[in-house]
Amino acid sequence: MLKFAVIGHPVAHSLSPAIHSANFRALGIDATYEAFDFAPEALSSGVARLVLEGYAGFNVTVPHKQAMINLVTLDESAARYLAVNTVKVGSGGMMRGYNTDVAGFLDDLEANGFDVRGKQVLVMGAGGAGSAVARGCLEAGALDVTIANRTPRDGMLPLGSDLCRKIAENVDLVVNATSVGLRPDDPSPIEAKFSAKQVVYDLAPVKWTTAIVKAARESGAKALTGHGMLVRQAARAFEIWTGKKADVAAMFEAVKEFEV
Ligand code: ATR
Repeated sequence: MLKFAVIGHPVAHSLSPAIHSANFRALGIDATYEAFDFAPEALSSGVARLVLEGYAGFNVTVPHKQAMINLVTLDESAARYLAVNTVKVGSGGMMRGYNTDVAGFLDDLEANGFDVRGKQVLVMGAGGAGSAVARGCLEAGALDVTIANRTPRDGMLPLGSDLCRKIAENVDLVVNATSVGLRPDDPSPIEAKFSAKQVVYDLAPVKWTTAIVKAARESGAKALTGHGMLVRQAARAFEIWTGKKADVAAMFEAVKEFEV
């Protein structure tokens, strides 16, 4: 039997065990997928224990994606985005780190009929997720990517500014990569009137409809949520671990009840 896990802090809310278990069931693979809460100071000892106990791979979530860089050898994707969300444990316990988040995000856009090539993009939030997604859009051929942040630095646009609102109303794709929306009664990170030709992508894989998703839908824009990215990064992680194609439909079925 193969053993997999997700490590984070906190991690109890993670949908990854449900997503991966659904895929194992659909493919008839004898494997388990557990969630482990490792505090930052226990990260390296926790990871060493997973290797000793024979885990074949694990996912890494907040707040460990950056710290993990120092504990594994990096594949090109992890080196590029300076964040590890997937680790494969090889023979002799050698760990290799990958980043499937950005590819998962781009896969999901593509699966929803949005070709980022030549498009104008606004990414709100310049933390780990925002920076990686902004870079991913540029590398995938976006015409331009504007980054807006609550705390602007290095030429970033201030998130609440009039210019930011104007850009949000005119670009092809608006991405929310801020932490605003992670709590059920959060407002939208931006007051903007979207239009039907826009796509609004809220990266937060939460169990409620966020204010920005609601606003996007009310204006006729296409709204995508973090569940799509979560499923597709999981599919890529599974493919790295096993060399097999994931059953993406079964994975989506596992988060369907949260897709509002
Ligand atoms: P992640 O790994 O999810 O990207 P992170 O690196 O902690 O998480 O980044 C959080 C992002 O949300 C940052 O862009 C942060 O803005 P600051 O750089 O100004 O801190 C943004 N953020 C957090 N709380 C916010 C709030 N109340 N309003 C607007 N932006 C917020």
